Amino acid sequence: MNEAPRRWRLMLACYIRPLMGRASPTDRPGHDTGQPGKDVVRGSWGWATPGHRPTRQHTLTGTRPSCAGRPGRLLVASYERERRIIGVKVAILTSGGDAPGMNAAVRAVARTAFSMGWQPMKVESGYKGLLEGRISPVDRRRLGGIIGRGGTVLGTQRSKEFQSPEGQQRVVDVLEEARLEALVVVGGEGSLTGAMKLSERGVKVVGIPATIDNDVWGTEIALGVDTALNTALETIDRIKDTASSHNRAHVVEVMGRNCGYLALMSAIAGGAEAVLVPEFEPDPEDLIGFMRKAYDQGKSHFIVVAAEGAKLSAAEFDEYVNSTDTYESRRTVVGHAQRGGDPTAFDRILGSRFGTAAVEALAAGESGVMVALSGELVVTLPLDQVVGRMRPLDPQMYRMAGILSALPE
Ligand code: F6P
Repeated sequence: MNEAPRRWRLMLACYIRPLMGRASPTDRPGHDTGQPGKDVVRGSWGWATPGHRPTRQHTLTGTRPSCAGRPGRLLVASYERERRIIGVKVAILTSGGDAPGMNAAVRAVARTAFSMGWQPMKVESGYKGLLEGRISPVDRRRLGGIIGRGGTVLGTQRSKEFQSPEGQQRVVDVLEEARLEALVVVGGEGSLTGAMKLSERGVKVVGIPATIDNDVWGTEIALGVDTALNTALETIDRIKDTASSHNRAHVVEVMGRNCGYLALMSAIAGGAEAVLVPEFEPDPEDLIGFMRKAYDQGKSHFIVVAAEGAKLSAAEFDEYVNSTDTYESRRTVVGHAQRGGDPTAFDRILGSRFGTAAVEALAAGESGVMVALSGELVVTLPLDQVVGRMRPLDPQMYRMAGILSALPE
Protein backbone atom coordinates (compact mmCIF):
# COMPACT_ATOMS: atom_id res chain seq x y z
CA MET A 1 0.00 0.00 0.00
CA ASN A 2 1.19 3.48 -0.82
CA GLU A 3 2.51 5.13 2.38
CA ALA A 4 1.53 8.74 1.67
CA PRO A 5 -2.26 8.35 1.40
CA ARG A 6 -2.13 6.16 4.49
CA ARG A 7 -0.37 8.90 6.42
CA TRP A 8 -2.96 11.40 5.28
CA ARG A 9 -5.81 9.16 6.33
CA LEU A 10 -4.24 8.69 9.74
CA MET A 11 -3.73 12.40 10.13
CA LEU A 12 -7.30 13.18 9.18
CA ALA A 13 -8.53 10.51 11.53
CA CYS A 14 -6.51 12.02 14.36
CA TYR A 15 -7.53 15.60 13.81
CA ILE A 16 -10.93 15.58 12.22
CA ARG A 17 -12.79 12.58 13.54
CA PRO A 18 -12.44 13.35 17.25
CA LEU A 19 -13.52 16.92 16.68
CA MET A 20 -16.44 16.07 14.46
CA GLY A 21 -17.52 13.21 16.64
CA ARG A 22 -17.22 14.64 20.11
CA ALA A 23 -17.10 18.37 20.05
CA SER A 24 -20.21 19.96 21.45
CA PRO A 25 -21.66 22.92 19.53
CA THR A 26 -20.18 25.29 22.07
CA ASP A 27 -16.59 24.20 21.84
CA ARG A 28 -16.33 23.83 18.11
CA PRO A 29 -14.19 26.34 16.36
CA GLY A 30 -16.22 29.22 15.11
CA HIS A 31 -18.65 29.28 17.96
CA ASP A 32 -18.81 32.44 20.00
CA THR A 33 -19.50 31.58 23.60
CA GLY A 34 -19.46 35.22 24.54
CA GLN A 35 -16.99 34.44 27.30
CA PRO A 36 -13.90 36.51 26.79
CA GLY A 37 -10.66 34.75 27.52
CA LYS A 38 -12.13 31.28 27.02
CA ASP A 39 -10.11 29.05 24.83
CA VAL A 40 -12.39 29.12 21.83
CA VAL A 41 -12.03 30.27 18.29
CA ARG A 42 -14.45 33.06 17.62
CA GLY A 43 -14.12 33.82 14.03
CA SER A 44 -15.26 34.35 10.58
CA TRP A 45 -14.50 30.71 10.02
CA GLY A 46 -17.66 30.18 12.03
CA TRP A 47 -19.58 30.56 8.77
CA ALA A 48 -18.20 27.27 7.62
CA THR A 49 -19.47 25.39 10.62
CA PRO A 50 -22.98 24.00 10.02
CA GLY A 51 -25.64 25.56 12.16
CA HIS A 52 -23.54 28.50 13.22
CA ARG A 53 -24.41 32.03 12.34
CA PRO A 54 -21.59 34.22 11.04
CA THR A 55 -20.02 36.24 13.79
CA ARG A 56 -18.52 39.65 13.47
CA GLN A 57 -15.22 38.68 14.94
CA HIS A 58 -12.35 37.32 12.97
CA THR A 59 -10.17 35.77 15.57
CA LEU A 60 -8.45 33.35 13.26
CA THR A 61 -6.68 36.37 11.90
CA GLY A 62 -6.14 37.45 15.50
CA THR A 63 -3.20 36.85 17.75
CA ARG A 64 -4.45 34.39 20.34
CA PRO A 65 -2.32 31.31 19.90
CA SER A 66 -5.24 29.05 20.64
CA CYS A 67 -7.05 30.46 17.64
CA ALA A 68 -4.54 29.12 15.19
CA GLY A 69 -4.93 25.55 16.43
CA ARG A 70 -4.32 22.99 13.73
CA PRO A 71 -7.36 20.83 14.46
CA GLY A 72 -9.62 23.84 14.01
CA ARG A 73 -8.13 24.64 10.68
CA LEU A 74 -8.45 21.13 9.38
CA LEU A 75 -12.00 20.86 10.54
CA VAL A 76 -12.91 24.13 8.95
CA ALA A 77 -11.12 23.25 5.76
CA SER A 78 -13.21 20.13 5.38
CA TYR A 79 -16.48 22.03 5.80
CA GLU A 80 -15.18 24.72 3.56
CA ARG A 81 -14.61 22.33 0.72
CA GLU A 82 -18.21 21.18 1.00
CA ARG A 83 -19.77 24.61 1.15
CA ARG A 84 -17.43 26.61 -1.00
CA ILE A 85 -18.87 28.51 -3.91
CA ILE A 86 -16.20 28.21 -6.53
CA GLY A 87 -15.30 30.94 -8.96
CA VAL A 88 -16.64 34.04 -7.21
CA LYS A 89 -15.05 37.05 -8.88
CA VAL A 90 -13.92 39.53 -6.25
CA ALA A 91 -12.42 42.84 -7.30
CA ILE A 92 -9.94 44.79 -5.22
CA LEU A 93 -9.01 48.43 -5.50
CA THR A 94 -6.91 50.92 -3.56
CA SER A 95 -8.18 54.45 -3.43
CA GLY A 96 -7.37 57.91 -2.06
CA GLY A 97 -3.95 58.69 -0.61
CA ASP A 98 -1.68 55.65 -0.64
CA ALA A 99 -0.64 54.13 2.68
CA PRO A 100 2.16 51.70 3.48
CA GLY A 101 0.69 48.23 3.92
CA MET A 102 -1.84 48.53 1.10
CA ASN A 103 0.11 45.94 -0.87
CA ALA A 104 0.01 43.53 2.05
CA ALA A 105 -3.78 43.90 2.04
CA VAL A 106 -4.00 43.39 -1.73
CA ARG A 107 -1.88 40.26 -1.44
CA ALA A 108 -3.98 38.91 1.44
CA VAL A 109 -7.27 39.56 -0.34
CA ALA A 110 -5.99 37.84 -3.47
CA ARG A 111 -4.42 34.87 -1.71
CA THR A 112 -7.43 34.31 0.56
CA ALA A 113 -9.69 34.51 -2.47
CA PHE A 114 -7.53 31.98 -4.32
CA SER A 115 -7.61 29.69 -1.29
CA MET A 116 -11.41 29.65 -1.55
CA GLY A 117 -11.37 28.89 -5.22
CA TRP A 118 -12.40 32.45 -6.07
CA GLN A 119 -10.97 34.61 -8.82
CA PRO A 120 -9.51 37.87 -7.50
CA MET A 121 -9.58 40.73 -10.01
CA LYS A 122 -7.42 43.82 -9.78
CA VAL A 123 -8.70 47.30 -10.49
CA GLU A 124 -6.08 49.88 -11.47
CA SER A 125 -6.14 53.46 -10.18
CA GLY A 126 -9.03 53.22 -7.71
CA TYR A 127 -12.58 54.24 -8.55
CA LYS A 128 -11.33 56.13 -11.60
CA GLY A 129 -9.91 52.93 -13.05
CA LEU A 130 -13.13 51.12 -12.17
CA LEU A 131 -15.13 53.71 -14.12
CA GLU A 132 -12.79 53.19 -17.04
CA GLY A 133 -13.13 49.40 -16.80
CA ARG A 134 -9.45 48.85 -16.01
CA ILE A 135 -10.05 45.46 -14.44
CA SER A 136 -8.07 42.28 -15.00
CA PRO A 137 -7.48 38.95 -13.24
CA VAL A 138 -4.80 38.85 -10.55
CA ASP A 139 -1.84 36.78 -11.65
CA ARG A 140 -0.96 34.69 -8.62
CA ARG A 141 2.74 34.74 -9.50
CA ARG A 142 2.83 38.54 -9.40
CA LEU A 143 1.92 38.65 -5.70
CA GLY A 144 5.30 37.46 -4.50
CA GLY A 145 7.35 40.13 -2.74
CA ILE A 146 4.70 42.85 -2.73
CA ILE A 147 4.06 42.50 1.02
CA GLY A 148 7.20 44.53 1.73
CA ARG A 149 6.70 47.21 -0.89
CA GLY A 150 5.52 50.73 -0.16
CA GLY A 151 2.85 52.55 -2.17
CA THR A 152 0.22 50.51 -3.95
CA VAL A 153 0.93 48.20 -6.86
CA LEU A 154 -2.63 48.80 -8.08
CA GLY A 155 -2.17 52.56 -8.27
CA THR A 156 -4.61 55.06 -6.82
CA GLN A 157 -6.32 58.25 -7.91
CA ARG A 158 -9.01 60.52 -6.61
CA SER A 159 -12.04 60.55 -8.92
CA LYS A 160 -14.44 63.51 -9.07
CA GLU A 161 -16.79 61.64 -11.39
CA PHE A 162 -17.31 58.81 -8.89
CA GLN A 163 -18.52 61.29 -6.28
CA SER A 164 -21.69 61.98 -8.30
CA PRO A 165 -24.70 59.62 -8.19
CA GLU A 166 -24.31 59.13 -11.96
CA GLY A 167 -20.68 58.10 -11.50
CA GLN A 168 -21.66 55.65 -8.77
CA GLN A 169 -24.38 54.12 -10.94
CA ARG A 170 -21.88 53.82 -13.77
CA VAL A 171 -19.59 51.84 -11.44
CA VAL A 172 -22.46 49.50 -10.59
CA ASP A 173 -23.00 48.96 -14.32
CA VAL A 174 -19.29 48.32 -14.91
CA LEU A 175 -19.23 45.75 -12.09
CA GLU A 176 -22.26 44.01 -13.58
CA GLU A 177 -20.84 44.04 -17.09
CA ALA A 178 -17.59 42.52 -15.79
CA ARG A 179 -19.63 39.99 -13.76
CA LEU A 180 -17.88 40.97 -10.56
CA GLU A 181 -19.71 39.66 -7.56
CA ALA A 182 -17.92 41.50 -4.79
CA LEU A 183 -15.57 44.38 -4.20
CA VAL A 184 -12.92 45.10 -1.57
CA VAL A 185 -12.04 48.78 -1.21
CA VAL A 186 -8.79 49.73 0.54
CA GLY A 187 -8.59 53.39 1.52
CA GLY A 188 -9.47 56.20 3.90
CA GLU A 189 -12.67 58.02 4.79
CA GLY A 190 -13.48 59.19 1.24
CA SER A 191 -12.89 55.75 -0.23
CA LEU A 192 -15.00 54.09 2.45
CA THR A 193 -17.79 56.59 1.82
CA GLY A 194 -17.64 55.51 -1.81
CA ALA A 195 -17.85 51.88 -0.72
CA MET A 196 -20.94 52.67 1.35
CA LYS A 197 -22.61 54.41 -1.61
CA LEU A 198 -21.99 51.33 -3.74
CA SER A 199 -23.35 49.10 -1.01
CA GLU A 200 -26.53 51.21 -0.95
CA ARG A 201 -26.84 50.45 -4.67
CA GLY A 202 -26.67 46.71 -3.96
CA VAL A 203 -22.97 46.04 -4.51
CA LYS A 204 -21.43 43.46 -2.17
CA VAL A 205 -18.58 45.42 -0.71
CA VAL A 206 -16.16 45.33 2.22
CA GLY A 207 -13.86 48.20 3.16
CA ILE A 208 -10.35 48.09 4.60
CA PRO A 209 -9.28 51.25 6.45
CA ALA A 210 -5.97 52.50 5.07
CA THR A 211 -4.77 56.03 5.70
CA ILE A 212 -1.78 57.45 7.49
CA ASP A 213 -4.08 60.01 9.17
CA ASN A 214 -5.71 57.47 11.49
CA ASP A 215 -8.94 59.40 11.30
CA VAL A 216 -11.22 56.50 10.34
CA TRP A 217 -13.82 55.96 13.03
CA GLY A 218 -14.24 52.48 14.53
CA THR A 219 -10.75 51.06 14.16
CA GLU A 220 -7.97 51.50 16.67
CA ILE A 221 -5.52 51.92 13.87
CA ALA A 222 -5.69 52.12 10.09
CA LEU A 223 -3.24 50.61 7.68
CA GLY A 224 -0.17 52.78 7.10
CA VAL A 225 -0.26 54.69 10.37
CA ASP A 226 2.52 52.75 12.04
CA THR A 227 4.94 53.20 9.14
CA ALA A 228 4.13 56.90 8.78
CA LEU A 229 4.58 57.37 12.51
CA ASN A 230 8.01 55.78 12.39
CA THR A 231 9.00 57.94 9.42
CA ALA A 232 7.93 61.09 11.26
CA LEU A 233 9.79 59.90 14.34
CA GLU A 234 13.00 59.36 12.42
CA THR A 235 12.80 62.95 11.19
CA ILE A 236 12.12 64.28 14.69
CA ASP A 237 15.11 62.38 16.09
CA ARG A 238 17.39 63.81 13.39
CA ILE A 239 16.05 67.33 13.85
CA LYS A 240 16.67 67.08 17.57
CA ASP A 241 20.40 66.57 16.92
CA THR A 242 20.80 69.69 14.82
CA ALA A 243 18.41 71.74 17.00
CA SER A 244 20.55 70.91 20.06
CA SER A 245 23.77 71.84 18.27
CA HIS A 246 22.35 75.29 17.44
CA ASN A 247 20.22 75.78 20.54
CA ARG A 248 17.30 76.35 18.23
CA ALA A 249 13.62 75.81 18.42
CA HIS A 250 12.39 73.58 15.62
CA VAL A 251 8.88 72.99 14.36
CA VAL A 252 8.29 69.69 12.60
CA GLU A 253 5.09 69.58 10.58
CA VAL A 254 3.55 66.16 10.03
CA MET A 255 0.56 65.09 7.93
CA GLY A 256 -2.81 64.03 9.25
CA ARG A 257 -5.29 66.32 7.49
CA ASN A 258 -7.73 67.39 10.25
CA CYS A 259 -6.61 64.78 12.73
CA GLY A 260 -3.84 65.26 15.28
CA TYR A 261 -3.05 61.57 15.81
CA LEU A 262 0.23 61.41 13.88
CA ALA A 263 1.46 64.63 15.46
CA LEU A 264 0.54 63.62 19.00
CA MET A 265 1.98 60.12 18.79
CA SER A 266 5.20 61.21 17.11
CA ALA A 267 5.56 64.02 19.67
CA ILE A 268 5.22 61.52 22.53
CA ALA A 269 7.59 59.01 20.92
CA GLY A 270 10.09 61.71 19.96
CA GLY A 271 10.08 63.37 23.38
CA ALA A 272 9.03 66.72 21.88
CA GLU A 273 8.55 69.72 24.11
CA ALA A 274 5.17 70.63 22.63
CA VAL A 275 2.58 69.47 20.14
CA LEU A 276 0.10 71.43 18.03
CA VAL A 277 -3.02 69.53 16.96
CA PRO A 278 -6.32 70.59 15.37
CA GLU A 279 -8.29 69.22 18.33
CA PHE A 280 -6.73 71.53 20.96
CA GLU A 281 -5.62 75.10 20.53
CA PRO A 282 -2.82 76.41 22.73
CA ASP A 283 -2.18 80.10 23.35
CA PRO A 284 1.01 81.08 21.42
CA GLU A 285 2.01 83.39 24.28
CA ASP A 286 1.84 80.48 26.74
CA LEU A 287 3.95 78.41 24.40
CA ILE A 288 6.61 81.11 24.10
CA GLY A 289 6.58 81.44 27.90
CA PHE A 290 7.07 77.70 28.20
CA MET A 291 9.92 77.83 25.68
CA ARG A 292 11.63 80.66 27.56
CA LYS A 293 11.40 78.70 30.80
CA ALA A 294 12.79 75.60 29.09
CA TYR A 295 15.84 77.46 27.82
CA ASP A 296 16.29 79.15 31.22
CA GLN A 297 16.43 75.72 32.78
CA GLY A 298 19.18 74.65 30.42
CA LYS A 299 17.34 72.95 27.56
CA SER A 300 19.41 72.91 24.41
CA HIS A 301 16.48 72.74 22.00
CA PHE A 302 12.73 73.19 21.82
CA ILE A 303 11.01 70.72 19.52
CA VAL A 304 7.42 71.33 18.54
CA VAL A 305 5.54 68.76 16.45
CA ALA A 306 2.66 70.34 14.55
CA ALA A 307 -0.14 68.61 12.70
CA GLU A 308 -0.74 70.04 9.23
CA GLY A 309 -4.30 70.88 10.31
CA ALA A 310 -3.37 72.54 13.63
CA LYS A 311 -5.13 75.82 14.33
CA LEU A 312 -1.88 77.42 15.40
CA SER A 313 0.07 76.26 12.36
CA ALA A 314 3.71 75.23 12.16
CA ALA A 315 4.44 78.25 9.93
CA GLU A 316 2.74 80.65 12.37
CA PHE A 317 4.59 79.34 15.39
CA ASP A 318 7.91 79.36 13.53
CA GLU A 319 7.33 82.97 12.53
CA TYR A 320 6.29 83.86 16.05
CA VAL A 321 9.50 82.48 17.56
CA ASN A 322 11.67 84.20 14.96
CA SER A 323 9.90 87.50 15.62
CA THR A 324 11.28 87.46 19.18
CA ASP A 325 14.80 88.80 19.05
CA THR A 326 16.01 86.22 21.54
CA TYR A 327 15.06 82.92 19.98
CA GLU A 328 15.57 81.29 16.64
CA SER A 329 13.41 78.69 14.95
CA ARG A 330 13.46 76.51 11.84
CA ARG A 331 10.64 74.57 10.29
CA THR A 332 10.67 71.18 8.58
CA VAL A 333 7.72 69.71 6.72
CA VAL A 334 7.94 65.91 6.65
CA GLY A 335 5.26 65.83 3.94
CA HIS A 336 4.72 62.97 1.54
CA ALA A 337 7.80 61.09 2.77
CA GLN A 338 5.40 59.80 5.44
CA ARG A 339 3.30 58.09 2.82
CA GLY A 340 6.18 56.25 1.20
CA GLY A 341 8.68 53.65 2.30
CA ASP A 342 8.57 49.97 3.10
CA PRO A 343 5.76 49.13 5.51
CA THR A 344 6.75 48.15 9.04
CA ALA A 345 6.18 44.61 10.27
CA PHE A 346 3.06 45.88 12.06
CA ASP A 347 1.55 47.27 8.84
CA ARG A 348 2.43 44.14 6.87
CA ILE A 349 0.70 41.99 9.47
CA LEU A 350 -2.27 44.33 9.82
CA GLY A 351 -2.67 44.45 6.02
CA SER A 352 -2.56 40.65 5.94
CA ARG A 353 -5.15 40.36 8.70
CA PHE A 354 -7.46 42.98 7.21
CA GLY A 355 -7.20 41.49 3.72
CA THR A 356 -7.96 37.97 4.91
CA ALA A 357 -10.80 39.14 7.15
CA ALA A 358 -12.35 41.16 4.30
CA VAL A 359 -12.65 38.08 2.08
CA GLU A 360 -13.82 35.96 5.01
CA ALA A 361 -16.50 38.55 5.72
CA LEU A 362 -17.71 38.38 2.11
CA ALA A 363 -17.72 34.59 2.31
CA ALA A 364 -19.79 34.87 5.47
CA GLY A 365 -22.37 36.87 3.53
CA GLU A 366 -21.44 40.21 5.06
CA SER A 367 -21.53 43.35 2.95
CA GLY A 368 -21.54 47.09 3.51
CA VAL A 369 -19.03 46.62 6.31
CA MET A 370 -15.49 47.66 7.14
CA VAL A 371 -12.92 45.45 8.83
CA ALA A 372 -11.45 47.09 11.90
CA LEU A 373 -9.02 46.43 14.71
CA SER A 374 -10.67 46.26 18.09
CA GLY A 375 -8.24 45.31 20.83
CA GLU A 376 -6.58 42.12 19.59
CA LEU A 377 -9.41 41.24 17.27
CA VAL A 378 -10.30 42.05 13.71
CA VAL A 379 -14.02 42.79 13.62
CA THR A 380 -16.47 44.14 11.07
CA LEU A 381 -18.52 47.30 11.47
CA PRO A 382 -21.33 48.59 9.25
CA LEU A 383 -19.96 51.24 6.89
CA ASP A 384 -22.88 53.54 7.62
CA GLN A 385 -21.71 53.65 11.24
CA VAL A 386 -18.18 54.49 10.20
CA VAL A 387 -18.46 57.14 7.50
CA GLY A 388 -19.16 60.76 8.33
CA ARG A 389 -17.49 60.42 11.70
CA MET A 390 -13.91 61.03 12.68
CA ARG A 391 -11.89 58.92 15.06
CA PRO A 392 -11.48 61.20 18.10
CA LEU A 393 -8.08 62.03 19.50
CA ASP A 394 -7.64 60.53 22.93
CA PRO A 395 -7.63 63.49 25.36
CA GLN A 396 -5.80 61.34 27.92
CA MET A 397 -2.91 60.92 25.48
CA TYR A 398 -2.83 64.67 24.95
CA ARG A 399 -2.80 65.21 28.69
CA MET A 400 -0.05 62.64 29.08
CA ALA A 401 2.08 64.40 26.46
CA GLY A 402 1.77 67.55 28.58
CA ILE A 403 2.79 65.74 31.77
CA LEU A 404 5.79 64.14 30.10
CA SER A 405 7.10 67.39 28.67
CA ALA A 406 6.50 69.43 31.83
CA LEU A 407 9.51 71.24 33.26
CA PRO A 408 10.73 70.75 36.84
CA GLU A 409 9.47 73.45 39.19
O1 F6P B 1 -5.02 61.46 3.74
C1 F6P B 1 -3.67 61.24 3.61
C2 F6P B 1 -2.94 62.52 3.32
O2 F6P B 1 -1.56 62.22 3.19
C3 F6P B 1 -3.14 63.64 4.32
O3 F6P B 1 -2.38 63.47 5.49
C4 F6P B 1 -2.76 64.83 3.50
O4 F6P B 1 -3.41 65.99 3.99
C5 F6P B 1 -3.25 64.49 2.13
O5 F6P B 1 -3.38 63.08 2.09
C6 F6P B 1 -2.37 64.93 1.02
O6 F6P B 1 -3.00 64.61 -0.17
P1 F6P B 1 -2.27 64.66 -1.58
O7 F6P B 1 -1.38 63.47 -1.70
O8 F6P B 1 -3.38 64.62 -2.57
O9 F6P B 1 -1.46 65.91 -1.63
